[in-house]
Amino acid sequence: MSNADFEKILNTSDEWIVTRTGMKERRYAPPEMASSDLATRAARHALERAGLEPADIDCFIVATVTPDYHFPATACIVASNLGVVGKAAFDIEIACSGFIYELPMAASFVRAGVFRRVMIIGVETLSRILNMEDRSTAILFGDGAGAAIVERVEASRDGFLSSELGADGNAPEMLYLPAGGSREPLTQTGIADKRDKVHMAGREVFKYAVTKMVETSLQVLERAHLTTDDVTWMIPHQANLRIMEAAAKRLNIPRERIVVNIEKYGNTSSASIPIALSETIEAGVLRKGDIILFTGFGGGLSWGSVAWRWDA
Ligand code: UT7
Repeated sequence: MSNADFEKILNTSDEWIVTRTGMKERRYAPPEMASSDLATRAARHALERAGLEPADIDCFIVATVTPDYHFPATACIVASNLGVVGKAAFDIEIACSGFIYELPMAASFVRAGVFRRVMIIGVETLSRILNMEDRSTAILFGDGAGAAIVERVEASRDGFLSSELGADGNAPEMLYLPAGGSREPLTQTGIADKRDKVHMAGREVFKYAVTKMVETSLQVLERAHLTTDDVTWMIPHQANLRIMEAAAKRLNIPRERIVVNIEKYGNTSSASIPIALSETIEAGVLRKGDIILFTGFGGGLSWGSVAWRWDA
């Protein structure tokens, strides 16, 4: 879905979208594909790259706000699609911060000896919950999936350095899907009023995002005895190019060290960071020992940062 496609259906322009967000295109899954289908593809890709079989994974975690069903967990379906039955599988729902929350969760599981390998997936089919008549949200989001495998290694090779996660539920309506849950079950009127679609106070979320990304980035680096000069790659949640650039500027991280692919995918929520990580690997620029700063924010509101030493 290109900016030109939106010009045909909304009072918007390529110029507005590019200058305000950095986005040019997003991908929408075809109607027959659900989140579990996208997630399964990403999972297969990750397994292939790691030289592992589905049976080598002990736990599957899916972060999503667009699960196949309210329940059961999309992770159960993904595991089954991969031919795995009997291993742990569950979803987490913390909006765009999903992958940022999954990383320390998976690292803690493997460190504690609960699991040997954990597959963490971020997946969204946000096209299903967009109000295509609302220009302030419709143009922002896209569909996608990314997956990573976190494996137990000896302490000297442990890549997880530090994390800081947070949330503030005082104003959930800043970014939410009003109807379809226990507070507001879905009705015909709710559907007519688009209460089953994304609602967002964009400007407020923007300010919060920059502040929290900067704050938690500094916290995790300090905790890992690092400074922003040590960061080889900053992989931020891809919500808005201006947000990423503002955060990087305050952190004094040069533009060429920020991984940006927002122009191709828009905001894919919990999928954006693993997709960006995957493309960084594919580009062949990641080196053993590189320090990656993952940082993001989203509905909740929620936020977090993770410092990771690459060891592959
Ligand atoms: O993953 C977390 C999810 N959320 C976010 O990351 C959202 C963070 N927020 C943002 O990225 C930005 O706030 C937006 C991109 C959503 C909006 O950019 P902005 O610079 O904050 O614009 P604004 O909301 O202050 O709106 C400025 C104007 C308004 O018109 P008026 O009231 O000044 O006449 C909007 O109606 O831009 C208008 N506008 C548009 N115009 C053309 C809003 N959307 C569009 C559009 N095309 N698509």
